[in-house]
Amino acid sequence: MNGCKKLQGEISVHGAKNSVLPILASTLLIKGVSVIHNVPDLSDVDASVNILEYLGAKVKRENSTLIVDASEISQNKVPEEMMREMRSSIIFLGSLLSRTKEAYICYPGGCDIGIRPIDLHLNALKKLGAVIYENGNCLCCKSHGFHGSKIILTFPSVGATENIIIAAAVSKGKTTIINAAREPEISDLAAFLNSCGARIFGAGEGTIEIEGVESLYPSAHSIIPDRVVAATYMSIGALCSDELVVKNIRSQHLMPVMPVFMEMGCRIDIDKNDLRITSPKRLKRVKMIKTMPYPGFPTDCQSIVMAALTKAKGTTIINESIFESRFKHISELNRFGADITVNDRSAIINGVKNLYGANVYCTDLRGGASMVVAALAAEGKSTIGDIYHINRGYEKIEESLAQIGADIKRVNDEKKQEETEECSA
Ligand code: UD1
Repeated sequence: MNGCKKLQGEISVHGAKNSVLPILASTLLIKGVSVIHNVPDLSDVDASVNILEYLGAKVKRENSTLIVDASEISQNKVPEEMMREMRSSIIFLGSLLSRTKEAYICYPGGCDIGIRPIDLHLNALKKLGAVIYENGNCLCCKSHGFHGSKIILTFPSVGATENIIIAAAVSKGKTTIINAAREPEISDLAAFLNSCGARIFGAGEGTIEIEGVESLYPSAHSIIPDRVVAATYMSIGALCSDELVVKNIRSQHLMPVMPVFMEMGCRIDIDKNDLRITSPKRLKRVKMIKTMPYPGFPTDCQSIVMAALTKAKGTTIINESIFESRFKHISELNRFGADITVNDRSAIINGVKNLYGANVYCTDLRGGASMVVAALAAEGKSTIGDIYHINRGYEKIEESLAQIGADIKRVNDEKKQEETEECSA
């Protein structure tokens, strides 16, 4: 399949994976039917649904709506293979423990982007009243119901903040989270739980207060658009299109990435929930990008924006401060003819004039997305393998890109990691 096609038109952003996953986990708190709209069809969502169903919930999908009936929960142990399916399965700990008062889970799996400890989750849940001990690779957790506490996070972990919010939602007393993560997905989780009767204040800010309630009632909620998918399409627009309209975005969620695209020489026009990105003939380098917790530049956009910068005029430095091993995609980007070197936690990207088609592999979810961005901008045919990573966070990406003129097709749709899986761009 050939890259270097001029892309144009409109491309729409689906619901945010990182919102859906904690919200699905939190439906365990509700003895009734939760209705979640704008849920993307992703393998990580399937993994969450499998866990919910295993635990006894009934889950039905109607197009992009998931209907979760958690009236009856019959299990309190999440099997190891389900936990290993995705890292964010740890988010089930707070909700399962809240619901069943006794939970058994294994250490979670996830992207290969470095050590991903869960100490902040466990310490916080202990402060809320959980007793947790390890048995081999399994965590045995008990509580007589959570009670309020003051929790100071040493780092604004997204997952730990979500686990605390979920655990403290149904509890006795008030919980305060200091140095909470401020990502939009935290606010979305709080909005859902508040619509169910929770009393969560300050989500989106550094201090969150949760007044525990006795129980929650069923509600309906629509998931916010995925800002990382939006940034992926912006990178593709910047690199492969004169003008591209990215539809169904929340512009305030894209504030951390917009200045980077503007420094590349792009013009960005916002019209309500649509964003038009107009690109120069050749992108300019960005002096320095450092990944930071929200509202800083997101680590999830690092590889994706890096792919766009491989063809920019000049040298860009990207410093990765969130995950210690999130540069595995670089050796793959260099197969396209990119000139990127790594010095400790910094990548030095010397812009080249052309990229050339290559056979590459996805190293992780966002690294995989960066392969798609590069392949679309490379002369000639590329083949991308191990696209099961991409399926975790992008719904039918090849169909969305084909609609704006990309010459891309999925040539093997097997979902299993072990089986050969390819996507050509
Ligand atoms: C979430 C996102 C992920 C994103 C990340 C950072 C989901 C499903 N995933 O992941 O896409 O890249 O936020 O924006 O929402 N840490 C600890 N101890 C802990 C927890 C985290 O040391 O108990 C460290 C991690 O190793 C990492 C940093 O904190 O270095 C950030 O992790 P965290 O914010 O927790 O990310 P996730 O919730 O796993």
